[in-house]
Amino acid sequence: MPSELSNPHLSVDIVDTIEHLKGTHAGYRRAHARGVCYDAVFTPSGEAGVLTTAAHLQSDPVSATVRFSHTDTNPHLSDGDRAVRGFATKFHLADGTNTDLIAVNLDRFVASTPANFLGLLRAGEPDPTTGAPDLDTVKTYLGSHPEAGPGLAAARVIPTPVSYVTNTYWAIHAFLWRDADGNVRPVKYRWVPDSDVENVTAEEAATWTAEHLTAELAERLKGGPAGFTLKVQLGEEGDNTDDSTQVWPSDRTEITAGRLEITAEAADQEHWADQSFDPNLLTPGIEASDDPILAARSTIYAVSYDRRIHKR
Ligand code: HEM
Repeated sequence: MPSELSNPHLSVDIVDTIEHLKGTHAGYRRAHARGVCYDAVFTPSGEAGVLTTAAHLQSDPVSATVRFSHTDTNPHLSDGDRAVRGFATKFHLADGTNTDLIAVNLDRFVASTPANFLGLLRAGEPDPTTGAPDLDTVKTYLGSHPEAGPGLAAARVIPTPVSYVTNTYWAIHAFLWRDADGNVRPVKYRWVPDSDVENVTAEEAATWTAEHLTAELAERLKGGPAGFTLKVQLGEEGDNTDDSTQVWPSDRTEITAGRLEITAEAADQEHWADQSFDPNLLTPGIEASDDPILAARSTIYAVSYDRRIHKR
């Protein structure tokens, strides 16, 4: 029996269910379909070097590619539509390999296992007579999965940011850092913008053109790079590493691992749109935690990648 973590049938079921509920947009990601890619440079602070051997967290700057995205499956939505926003970073390491860090502007997820996520999707299936999800079915799901509540509530009211770079973004899962002596500790990542966190009202967002956030960032970058600081929370004994619906206490020690500067829109958008960002594309010194959602994301993303790359 395949475990739930590596179960390819479950991954296919999840992607099929997303398509069933949201429709298919041939050639696009089955989530975060709408996105724009940017050139960036990441400069480590040096603070992380004693805690992990990861090459990009030592002392030398590395180039990176960032993809900002809109979580929906529909690539034709407007930037002003309410949505969770994605911030995927591919660090280009000196040895020619890459490592990815994927974040969103929410600090927690809505399910603790892939099977629960599938259950949540199915609970939202529209009733054929009303065309809307059946509230009793949703209530029953939430009654038996209270851990979904905080993430769903935050997503439901998520504000629209003034800019892609006026948001805080969390990678949500715990990862493991391994130092030069083999010591391992759990960590969680958070990107903090140089700019203040700034949002617009729903009324203002409704007046935006579809590509408003891309145009806004193009204009902003004329004045110089847009920066984020990579903050890393250090987990302590007893902090859970296997449940993305839970956050760690806010008083955990946090270090500054480095600074990312977004410099320009990537010249070849099509090339970057075709690439895959994978939260399990790690580099020596960083390992996946035991979070089952994290484990499943690689196979889920591979199913989506295979479909979009074959223009399905
Ligand atoms: C069971 C849980 C999840 C499912 C089913 C899921 C599904 C997907 C799919 C199908 C894609 C498109 C992949 C591709 O074609 O390359 C995607 C992309 C993405 N997901 Fe998830 N996801 C899950 C969990 C998460 C979590 C916990 C985060 C939070 C960090 C996240 C953030 C993103 C982002 C930012 C992208 C866009 C990456 C890019 O720009 O290429 N996802 N997701």
